Amino acid sequence: MSVALRQMTKADLDAVIELEHAAFAEEAWTRQMLIGELDQQPASRYYLVAQLDGQVVGYAGLLGAGWQGDVLTLAVARLHWGRGIGSALLEALLAEAARRGCAEVFLEVRTDNVRAQQLYARHEFSQIGIRRGYYQPSGADAVVMRRALTPGKAGAGAAGGTTEEHR
Ligand SMILES: CC(C)(COP(=O)(O)OP(=O)(O)OC[C@H]1O[C@@H](n2cnc3c(N)ncnc32)[C@H](O)[C@@H]1OP(=O)(O)O)[C@@H](O)C(=O)NCCC(=O)NCCS
Repeated sequence: MSVALRQMTKADLDAVIELEHAAFAEEAWTRQMLIGELDQQPASRYYLVAQLDGQVVGYAGLLGAGWQGDVLTLAVARLHWGRGIGSALLEALLAEAARRGCAEVFLEVRTDNVRAQQLYARHEFSQIGIRRGYYQPSGADAVVMRRALTPGKAGAGAAGGTTEEHR
């Protein structure tokens, strides 16, 4: 399998929105929200798509400005789960966060999303708390996870901090 990662542009939005709805249902971001995110590239955002045989099969986004990064979103088409695409996207975000000088990266994930939590745990994220009723409109709780980075490379380090709003 050859998956190519490249920066997301507005031309990808139709494909991304389809994946977004499949992955997040009523919590899906709108086109306007996604355009607002892409408008902040490259200053504070970094969005990638994963392409397989010319088709967008996954995407991910990072807020990376200053010492703290946040994984804003990550999704892969159901048909292509379990092939390392989610891991590849996450690793690329972490490498970019390190390049941008982030010393730590945070994320939020639904408490019932065990698959995603396992993916993050395999990439050295640890659970640091729970945010009650974080997801709307469902009211589902979020696990907050964090990993340290060595700015300049995707390695280990140590620090503490707060979180930005994200998925
Ligand atoms: C969470 C999500 C992004 C993971 O994507 P993915 O592409 O399936 O992730 P990976 O393939 O990298 O890893 C998932 C599993 O596949 C396994 N895997 C990875 N590469 C593999 C390969 N080459 N061959 C076989 N298995 C592999 C991993 O070990 C892992 O298995 P495990 O969960 O049993 O430990 C995907 O399930 C998804 O889009 N979910 C819906 C949206 C979502 O929940 N996003 C997170 C929001 S916070």
